[in-house]
Amino acid sequence: RAYDLVVRGGTVATAAEVFEADIGILEGRIAALGRNLAAGREEVSAKGMVVTPGGLDPHCHLEEIGQDGSVHEESFASGSAAALAGGTTSFICFLPQWKGHSLADSAPGYEARAAQSRCDYSFHQIITDPRPEVLEREIPALIARGVRSLKVFLTYDPLRLNDRELIEVLAVARRHRAFVTIHAENYDAIGWRIDALLKAGLTDPLQHAWSRPPVVEREATHRAIALAELVDQPVQIFHVSCEEAAAEIAAARARGVKVWGETCPQYLTLSHEDLQGPDFAGAKAVCSPALRAKGENEKVWRRIQDGTLDVVSSDHCGFSFTTAKRAPGSGGYGMGSANLRADGTPAFNAIPNGVPGIETRLPVLFSEGVNKGRIDLPHFVRLSAANAARLFGLEGRKGSLMPGADADLVVWDPDAERRIRNTELHHAIDYTPWEGFAIKGFPSVTIAGGRVAVQQGQVLAEPGRGRFLARDAYALARPGGRVPDGFDAASVG
Ligand code: URP
Ligand code: ZN
Ligand code: ZN
Ligand code: ZN
Repeated sequence: RAYDLVVRGGTVATAAEVFEADIGILEGRIAALGRNLAAGREEVSAKGMVVTPGGLDPHCHLEEIGQDGSVHEESFASGSAAALAGGTTSFICFLPQWKGHSLADSAPGYEARAAQSRCDYSFHQIITDPRPEVLEREIPALIARGVRSLKVFLTYDPLRLNDRELIEVLAVARRHRAFVTIHAENYDAIGWRIDALLKAGLTDPLQHAWSRPPVVEREATHRAIALAELVDQPVQIFHVSCEEAAAEIAAARARGVKVWGETCPQYLTLSHEDLQGPDFAGAKAVCSPALRAKGENEKVWRRIQDGTLDVVSSDHCGFSFTTAKRAPGSGGYGMGSANLRADGTPAFNAIPNGVPGIETRLPVLFSEGVNKGRIDLPHFVRLSAANAARLFGLEGRKGSLMPGADADLVVWDPDAERRIRNTELHHAIDYTPWEGFAIKGFPSVTIAGGRVAVQQGQVLAEPGRGRFLARDAYALARPGGRVPDGFDAASVG
């Protein structure tokens, strides 16, 4: 039987190897890799190109509705178009929970809206209010439906858990075999610094960074890992921004703890300088954890190179600059009261947190990583897709070119040179913090589910083409098997 599609003559990179091969696709899956494959009904030439598995972005915020009514402006249709144009063929976003609400009645209709995605997607469930019925009934039911990962926040007024609540969530995840991701910053320390900065009249976007220095991330990372160890529950620390936090993860891994670390392109390329500039421009780089001093970027790269940080996600957030400028409001990720300044712009603590990056994630990683010699192609594949697939129960399906894997792949022009321009991006946001950033290496063709989804910057995949990725129990999320004093408190349900 002829292949539906053959990607011919490329340099193929997997998580382990680089070799010359054609790739044959049948019914949405990889059917064969080899030389001189038979003709396909459709052919894509990859001569002189690099072919990788499509990216899996395991951390992005799309159409999230905050309890304060704030909405991420990125829709599933626009966000998934941007993802595909940037070489990402699947993503994991977040089901919200509003404090005082059950999971079921937080953000009604969210799953139906997600079905508008142009590429495959899955969810992490955010837990902000771990009441008994949520812990005992709702989380187990959700896990059984294939939502196998939870996100918890140790900071932000409307989201944060205290230590006891974190422990309870870890224990439920442990009993029901889910994975837990953690936003690790010290809530009280940040609150104290915000109040002091505002009292001192320091309100610029740069002071967002001053409100949450590396030590607050290091402390919360240490605490989160210690509590995960107490419960014996595997976890990933999200968006690691600095060496201090990465060192906590490395030390725990060295003692055999099942902890992983994620970082994002913003922590590899941007710094305090991006939080400054005329006309409130620094607001475009407000994210949490905050950008660090310039020298920190290379230290985070080193933690990628030594394997401590093994996923690079976008943490894409859909808040436009004009919205942030006009309407003080935290976008649901706020701290302290919203203050307007004399010129009408909000103080640093009322700027929505997060930067858009679902489309630029992989071009920045390819250019700064592969083309500048910091990582090789298999490492790029692991960071962009394969490791996240392993961590989140999508191994064999995503991040792989093995026969049977979903036919999601990217044909890269490794020599294409351009500058990132927001006008050329497909997201719905009115800026990119990488405006003007020079890139070498860009996706030329993106294939998702065995069909050409993007060609020459034209998005061909229509809304609704993506499928929800239900995830079964998987080995990596199993506990490590070590509990203090041999007493397994989490097993007492
Ligand atoms: O600044 C960020 N990262 N905003 C998005 C929410 C989060 O903490 O992941
Ligand atoms: Zn239970
Ligand atoms: Zn976070
Ligand atoms: Zn996030």
